[in-house]
Amino acid sequence: MERLDRKLPAAFLLLLPLLSVSGVANQKTTVSWCVLSDAEEQKCLDLAGNATALNIRGTLQCVRGLNTRDCIDKIKNGTADAASMFADDIYAAGLCHGLELAAGESHNGVDGISYYVVAMARRSSSDLSLLEMHERSSCHPGMRTTVGWTVPIGYLVNTSQIRVGEQCNFPRAVGNFFGYSCVPGVKDPQHDPRGNNPKNLCEACIGDDNDRHICANSHRERHYGEAGALRCVAENLGDVAFVKHTTIFDNLDGKNQESWALDLELEDLKLLCPDGTEAGLDEYEHCHLAAVPANAVVVRMEDKCRVWKFLERLQNAFGNGHQGFSLFSSVGYGGSDLLFSDATHHLQRVLGSYTSWLGPTYTTMLQAFECEGFC
Ligand SMILES: *[C@@H]1O[C@H](CO)[C@@H](O)[C@H](O)[C@H]1NC(C)=O
Ligand SMILES: *[C@@H]1O[C@H](CO)[C@@H](O)[C@H](O)[C@H]1NC(C)=O
Ligand SMILES: *[C@@H]1O[C@H](CO)[C@@H](O)[C@H](O)[C@H]1NC(C)=O
Repeated sequence: MERLDRKLPAAFLLLLPLLSVSGVANQKTTVSWCVLSDAEEQKCLDLAGNATALNIRGTLQCVRGLNTRDCIDKIKNGTADAASMFADDIYAAGLCHGLELAAGESHNGVDGISYYVVAMARRSSSDLSLLEMHERSSCHPGMRTTVGWTVPIGYLVNTSQIRVGEQCNFPRAVGNFFGYSCVPGVKDPQHDPRGNNPKNLCEACIGDDNDRHICANSHRERHYGEAGALRCVAENLGDVAFVKHTTIFDNLDGKNQESWALDLELEDLKLLCPDGTEAGLDEYEHCHLAAVPANAVVVRMEDKCRVWKFLERLQNAFGNGHQGFSLFSSVGYGGSDLLFSDATHHLQRVLGSYTSWLGPTYTTMLQAFECEGFC
């Protein structure tokens, strides 16, 4: 018995190099992707099968996550290796968990940029400046959305118009700042557990045709979403709408058959620029609150290179213009933007840190929320 005990460590030491070599080899060839739905999991499994069939070096595994936060935790502790995420989640993954990016999506148009957030107003509204929005009426697509909340509130905090104070109560600070406004969902229990978010943030909301669901976090509120925020300004209930640069073009020329949209003309509206000036609707490239970066692939720092190399092989085989499995399409899976955005043209390597991908203006907007309890 005693002899065995003494022998065991020696035998174990001999095995150790073998164990760690096979451990490293295994880690080096497998990339496990964190997926969030049945549809995404199926696309991931099909990709894995097609990659194996083509003898592409490396093995893709698909790991099911409960939500983005869970995927971040899994990547951090090694239960998963990678997942594509929205800009806001990339910031949390980087700042709070030290994760980095292997690759980012490039959409048609400007590299790495998904869209611009702009401030839109009626041309007839004079004396309106983004530098003096106090007591103005504002229309937001939704609570805690990038377009309707993170970017505009981040801008107003950065320019010291909104002061959050030590309470870090953003809804209250925003309610004190603006006049009658519409932030759909601001009074939902999910965003307002104590029921004391300011009522004025629902006063420019209109609900459905029967005046029900006022301020609802859904399309039943007719001022919900980007089209709804635009409508809110078009109908003169708000002074300014925070929308995407594409929102106006998505709702003109009969693309939206609702009467408010049919009555709308390009000449009726203008952009408000962050320096206090104004511009035409097509001048969003120099008159925007933020350029929102496209989604990118979150990984552990030490996996940046390895995961990029694997993705490079996958997109060479299954990127745009190839037959068979299509990496940037979700057709046939009953969902959209699975694994990657459907608008992706190709993936590009991210060599710098996650903040280089997010860009200085967008990072500044997010920094405004670094209040107690952010991480
Ligand atoms: C390849 O992908 C297609 C979908 O594009 C799927 O039907 C097929 O089963 C996949 N092949 C393998 C070997 O997994
Ligand atoms: C890793 O994190 C996930 C998500 O929090 C958790 O479910 C899992 O048990 C963790 N695994 C390990 C090995 O710590
Ligand atoms: C943030 O505020 C500072 C000071 O007002 C300003 O110089 C800077 O341009 C602002 N940044 C952004 C991204 O708006």
